[in-house]
Amino acid sequence: MKAGQAVLEKLRGSAVPLSGTDLARDLGVSRAAVHKRIEKLRASGERIVGTQRVGYRWRGSADRWNPPALRQGWVTDVVAFSTVGSTQDEAKTRAAGGADEGTLVVADRQTAGRGRWGRVWVSPRGGLWYSLVLRPSIAPDRCPALTLVAALDWVRVLRRRGLDARVKWPNDVWVDGKKVAGILTEMSAETDRVHWVVMGVGLNVNNRPPASTEAASVSQWIGPVSRQELLSEWLTRFARSYGRFVRNGFGPFQRDFNRWSLLHGRRVRLEGTVSMEGQVLGVDGLGRLRLRTARGEKTCVGGEVSVARNPA
Ligand code: BTN
Repeated sequence: MKAGQAVLEKLRGSAVPLSGTDLARDLGVSRAAVHKRIEKLRASGERIVGTQRVGYRWRGSADRWNPPALRQGWVTDVVAFSTVGSTQDEAKTRAAGGADEGTLVVADRQTAGRGRWGRVWVSPRGGLWYSLVLRPSIAPDRCPALTLVAALDWVRVLRRRGLDARVKWPNDVWVDGKKVAGILTEMSAETDRVHWVVMGVGLNVNNRPPASTEAASVSQWIGPVSRQELLSEWLTRFARSYGRFVRNGFGPFQRDFNRWSLLHGRRVRLEGTVSMEGQVLGVDGLGRLRLRTARGEKTCVGGEVSVARNPA
């Protein structure tokens, strides 16, 4: 655990103010070190009130975006909105206008958030809504697997925080039987060349999830979380994964994807350009879903998957 995080946890967990001396003793550090960590936490958006002879109290987290801190290495530009129609539409306009790979569009709130299949994506304050411009030099038919790679990195970020996160092919992240995140990947391409890909991610973090029995927010399991911290961690991971994917394809991710798959071994129904039912055998080295159906093994490139009523 990071030094500042320990101070934050003490303050968050305490119903009464904690003095610098108490904190220093509990954490085995000097008072000056406590003071320094509190200043850093404040700078990152934590509201910590200090009263002389009483102590420090945590009053919540402003959870504001800090664009310079997100502009790490691979991220070339950060466009942060308080409210926007859709980060996806903003990023697509920028991509079509020549925006660099690594352009990131984030928003606190979307008024016209979009999901797959033209569905509405409810995006109130407290959630993490962002879209990323990518320009991979790969064949267009390899692009759908990028969504799987991104979802897998979210699973890793959430599992590190103790959540039992799983990928649900082809674009969701689920925790304990509930959907916490969805990914919408759109692109512009010729038959053999990708112009741009815009990857949009919606993660319910501190917001009340939409009124659906299927949806949940990360904070339901672990309390309020910094969206900035989550996104930074994902960006760091994804920068690595993306490079690996462009160089070596989906193969290096196949094992982990199957390991953390929500659907592995389950009987599912797939709706898409073709519809079928079968038992999930896993994903192949290209990221396609393998199903054992009554008509033999089939591989599917896309579609909407639901768990069939009568499990095999
Ligand atoms: C899905 O599960 O259907 C995918 C949902 C993707 C939602 C994100 S939120 C950020 C970006 N902006 C949008 O309008 N949609 C994506």
